[in-house]
Amino acid sequence: MAENNANTLMEKLVSLCKRRGFIFPSSEIYGGINGFWDYGPLGVELKRNIKDAWWTDMVLKRDDMLGLDCTIIMNPKVWEASGHVVNFNDPLVDCRGCKARFRADKVFLAVAKEGDNVLLSVGVEADDADGAKAAAFSGANSKTRRRLEDRGDRIGWTIARVDKLPAGAVALCPLCGQGLTDARKFNMMFKTFVGAMEDSSSLAYLRPETAQGIFANYRNVLDSSRVKIPFGIAQIGKSFRNEINPRNYTFRSREFEQMEIEFFCHPSEGDRWYEYWRDRRFQWYVGLGLTSSKLRLRPHEKDELAHYARACADIEYAFPFGISELEGVANRTDFDLTQHQKFSGRDMTYFDDETKERYIPYVIEPSGGIDRAALAFLCEAYCEDTAPDENGQPQARTVMKLHPRLAPVKAAVFPLVKKDGMPEVATKIHQALKAAGIASFYDEKGAVGRRYRRQDEAGTPFCFTVDGQTLQDQTVTVRDRDSLKQIRIAADQVVEYVQKKLK
Ligand code: GAP
Repeated sequence: MAENNANTLMEKLVSLCKRRGFIFPSSEIYGGINGFWDYGPLGVELKRNIKDAWWTDMVLKRDDMLGLDCTIIMNPKVWEASGHVVNFNDPLVDCRGCKARFRADKVFLAVAKEGDNVLLSVGVEADDADGAKAAAFSGANSKTRRRLEDRGDRIGWTIARVDKLPAGAVALCPLCGQGLTDARKFNMMFKTFVGAMEDSSSLAYLRPETAQGIFANYRNVLDSSRVKIPFGIAQIGKSFRNEINPRNYTFRSREFEQMEIEFFCHPSEGDRWYEYWRDRRFQWYVGLGLTSSKLRLRPHEKDELAHYARACADIEYAFPFGISELEGVANRTDFDLTQHQKFSGRDMTYFDDETKERYIPYVIEPSGGIDRAALAFLCEAYCEDTAPDENGQPQARTVMKLHPRLAPVKAAVFPLVKKDGMPEVATKIHQALKAAGIASFYDEKGAVGRRYRRQDEAGTPFCFTVDGQTLQDQTVTVRDRDSLKQIRIAADQVVEYVQKKLK
């Protein structure tokens, strides 16, 4: 039942995003391309607002952060030094029957037994064992489901990832049920060629993370800005990964945007800065509206940590399709700078004038995905309730309760009717908002209740209506998207009113 609700919510959200111009499938007129998404007029503003909020809060408001904008294609040695050429692999399995391809760490064999009697044995795609059990159960036919339910606690379930199956067990395809091949490695970096030759000498990669461009420029930033440790370098930009199975809408795409910080500190201060950034980044999402219990911080278990990481935590969100990572915060030690020093021959040490100590700094990395943040904000914002229509009767509405800083359109201005000079006054207010750099929308078509509801779907927090009283006392109504409360303010205070709310 819960799963059905989640599916329905996702379907409704996807449909709203398409209908209202948040997100479109890439190159849709040619049938689309799996794992690529475009952002429409509302979506591009939402994403821009997320990036602006991040840049303002993480760079502009701080004294210890500098910005950077690196190229997507870099010297391929960068990716040798970082370990991506050898290690950036996903385990892949193919179906021997239908030829479908899967990430081996996302396919499970789920077996339900009562004693020696096998009731169900299926391959399912899922993120973890719990998800696999739920998928196996809901995917079973109704007769099997009833049998499983009837037997309740007597059933023993074994759930095993197909690349970690016990000897003798056969991995099954989640689509057709036939056998899967053994797992093999698949490098996820997109390859291309630079220049006219198409051979190994011109091979290059589209970056799979923005982080390495920061490490490659660490010396340049240090020398050009004379900054002192501790300090960070922040970058926003596109990254590319040839994901085997892009899925869950924009959650796992092949082209996406990252917002990454590499924060350089003395090794003895690494633990403290790690805790600082883990908590700071978590609070950033809360401050922008992910206030529900759906947001959580999950420290990695020791056996989950990358070999170079001293500590790592995921900031996770309970999406309708499952709890998944929004951002990772890691203490990467001196691993990356040491590697780049070794491969480039350039000195990556830092000399402290005061203590006369020379060392390679530790790096704390908060690494977030903008598309995932956008999706979480959209999921959190989606709400169905009722709002009174013109006659005060409750009417169903869909409303996107986005934080005002993130809302694509901040204000809408309506004349109540298209006469008596109301459009002229409303247009003036709309122009004043635009002149102040505030995204405003002017609408004079149709019943005012319908106009409100269109703005609710777009997530517009404030609607201003010019009515008969405006012509008498130069006040307008402000209707609050979430509380539905309406108050009157002076028409010449509209810009200031919105500016205050955006702070
Ligand atoms: N520099 C470290 C790094 O890139 P990561 O955990 O691989 O770490 C960081 O990626 C963030 O980038 C993730 O938390 C996620 O938000 C985003 N991300 C990674 N792969 C993605 C994909 N295929 N689609 C959308 N976002 C992705």
